[in-house]
Amino acid sequence: SRTVRRNEDGVATVAGIEVTRLAEEFGTPAYFLDEADFRARCRAWADAFGKDADVFYAGKAFLSRAVVRWLHEEGLNLDVCSGGELATALAAGMPAERIAFHGNNKSAREIERAVSAGVGRIVLDSFQEIVQVAHIAQRLGRRQPVQIRVTVGVEAHTHEFIATAHEDQKFGIALADGQAAEAVRRALKLDGIELIGIHSHIGSQIFDMAGFEVSARRVVQLLAEVRDEHGVELPEIDLGGGLGIAYTSEDDPREPHDIAKALSDIVTRECESAGLRTPRISVEPGRAIVGPTAFTLYEVGTIKPLEGLRTYVSVDGGMSDNIRTALYDAEYSVALVSRRSDAEAMLTRVVGKHCESGDIVVRDAFLPADLAPGDLIAVPATGAYCRSMASNYNHALRPPVVAVRDGEARVLVRRETEEDLLRLDVGH
Ligand code: LLP
Repeated sequence: SRTVRRNEDGVATVAGIEVTRLAEEFGTPAYFLDEADFRARCRAWADAFGKDADVFYAGKAFLSRAVVRWLHEEGLNLDVCSGGELATALAAGMPAERIAFHGNNKSAREIERAVSAGVGRIVLDSFQEIVQVAHIAQRLGRRQPVQIRVTVGVEAHTHEFIATAHEDQKFGIALADGQAAEAVRRALKLDGIELIGIHSHIGSQIFDMAGFEVSARRVVQLLAEVRDEHGVELPEIDLGGGLGIAYTSEDDPREPHDIAKALSDIVTRECESAGLRTPRISVEPGRAIVGPTAFTLYEVGTIKPLEGLRTYVSVDGGMSDNIRTALYDAEYSVALVSRRSDAEAMLTRVVGKHCESGDIVVRDAFLPADLAPGDLIAVPATGAYCRSMASNYNHALRPPVVAVRDGEARVLVRRETEEDLLRLDVGH
């Protein structure tokens, strides 16, 4: 990450603090998040999209009260997808009208909470939910702004588990067979909701804009059909998140400015040809904002050379703090950060301490051949979907998230303790 530098002893520093000092103070494994970098990325997205578009940070990537405050201060909105994320957002003072509420199976309680709080939009994910949200809002004496999430039928070029716009999966309502048009018909009839737009999210860790093009084109077609049938021009479209980041040196992500321009050009062009006013565009990047801002620091433990194969390097965390390699075959890089080494490189696999052979953090990694127990290694780009998907598997204590800024470090989310685990264990 561009935020990590080396001093003359080869020790990495972040925001002016040596990582060896961070390890002493906060222990390992731990996530360290560069606040200035996070804020800079928020600003880059907000500036790129400008006044006529909205950026919603996807809280599922990583959320804490400090993060909510930073988003608020940097002018971003927030996408939440559960009652827990909503509670965090509200507790940290995010104005409700800047919150979008997602989810394919929102509970009645969650919907009531979101409507009562006055969230800016609820993204409807099924026919069932159109009616349910309308009834709840009506009972609460509200008219809830909503978008309908559609699946546009594109195959995003990414891992199967994180592609979401093909038809055989649980999210949204298909554009195919007039289903989305039928959803709009029903939504427009209900008093409790105000249909303000259409939503499409095609998947995650995507570099190619082609999927977004198809998605935007099909959503605009739907807007044109809605205009023809009902005489209303829906004012908003949301194209979701999913913009890729660099996990290894092979990944080449686009800048927010490029992405904003590409999306706005497509939507404008399609709307012109359909004779529609250009709707307000919104996007929901999670990974692209928080992913690159954090790294995980581990301490090396057991080192096991396997003759003719590779050397297995075990660290003090693993799939409980980063499930992405096991779940999606995700790629990461790793570097020795606690000292300088001029030793030659050896092929390693960085693995965790869990009771599974699939407990891999970095599948193929070169590390110096003089690597020794007690060395600290860092895995960059772990800001998104690592702490937020962390587990207590094998009763691992989930690591802290420490924000670093201008030579100072402070805990955003503390490390769990054994008491935390025992507190959940209420049977005798
Ligand atoms: N909007 C919606 C409706 C989403 O479902 C998601 C991600 C996002 C925005 C944000 O996507 P991003 O810009 O962060 O890629 N846990 C997986 C990815 C699944 C994400 C699910 N939804 C991972 O670790 O890669």
